Amino acid sequence: MMSAPIYLDFNATTPVDPEVLEAMLPWLREQHGNPSSTHEYGRRAADAVATARAQVAHLIGAQPREIVFTGCATEANNLALLGGARAMPAHRRHLIVSAIEHPAVMGPAMALRDQGWDVTVLPVDTFGRVRVEDVASALRPDTALVSIMHANNEVGTLQPVSETAELTRARGIVLHSDAAQSAAKIAVHVDDLGVDLLTLAGHKFHAPKGVGALYVRRGTQLRPILYGPDQEHGLRPGTENVAAIVAIGAAAAIVASRLPKISAHLRAMRDRLHARLAAGVSGLQINGHPEQRLPNTLHVSFPGVSGRDLLAEAADSVAASVGSACHSASDAVSGVLAAMGFDTVRATGAVRLSVGRTTTAEEVDRAAATLVSAWGRLYAN
Ligand SMILES: Cc1ncc(COP(=O)(O)O)c(C=O)c1O
Repeated sequence: MMSAPIYLDFNATTPVDPEVLEAMLPWLREQHGNPSSTHEYGRRAADAVATARAQVAHLIGAQPREIVFTGCATEANNLALLGGARAMPAHRRHLIVSAIEHPAVMGPAMALRDQGWDVTVLPVDTFGRVRVEDVASALRPDTALVSIMHANNEVGTLQPVSETAELTRARGIVLHSDAAQSAAKIAVHVDDLGVDLLTLAGHKFHAPKGVGALYVRRGTQLRPILYGPDQEHGLRPGTENVAAIVAIGAAAAIVASRLPKISAHLRAMRDRLHARLAAGVSGLQINGHPEQRLPNTLHVSFPGVSGRDLLAEAADSVAASVGSACHSASDAVSGVLAAMGFDTVRATGAVRLSVGRTTTAEEVDRAAATLVSAWGRLYAN
């Protein structure tokens, strides 16, 4: 029997950790209470949600009451931008985002533009990094919100969030950062970053899909984008998905207890993969910032072939993407690479390989050998 392809797409999603699954199962089986009910069943569910809130808060150095659970990171980003915008006075209608934001930020930003907001889209350098000087010169008296992701999902480049906070804080501008990719791979601490709002995605760190969280710094003005009962401090109505919330809490607790080890393992596997590929593929180019980047992400351009064809050729043995999972069905050059100023050849040859905490050295070696020989076959033709 053929073995399953080696999974190198951890930036798209991660498998549920067995410990996380164990933690959530009782909340799908015997524990069925609604956290808003005042009886025993409800109280148990409310306690479980409170524990998860504390676990997620602890991971990012926040207070439990500053965590709002959402249905996904996309929802958390929408709440940050649309809910933040709704709380602003009418004379502040300027939003700043970077050109490499995920569609979950770019979408609500463009919706605000349709509603009459002025939106500045900041360019990035060839490493995919926003320049702090560009943030400084984009700020205006009517700037209400700035949203700059912590780490880019395609190339992994880390953004100057704390430097941006120094600019926004002094002017009373709300700063949001989408940390869906960085949390659980590197330290994400809300006070070190200086953010007012921060997005987390459970399924990027071994909780199931369909649960996220928005950190809301105490005192930050935010309005809900859904209306109903007053769960989640009145910011996210709807009966809580207790099992998924328990899961993101358990996943956060695992990361909080082992982050240095996790980061070191990701880096070792990523660098091993890079070394093996570079040895077999002459002219392989690394994309994104060489140092200021996620420890698990290897975004490379293979010379003379298309990344899509390469992954198709290796598909029996390796599962990876040419860019973000949201775009992998389309043939267009990634907007992130276009913003980085890549020519079509380099962009076409690009592949995003992302390792995870379950990735082994043996898998890396096998995947690298497969990709090198697939490249050799395509390059020769
Ligand atoms: C940076 C970033 N933000 C937001 C999201 C959206 O996450 P979800 O699909 O869980 O809403 C993703 C997932 O791909 C992401 O990489």
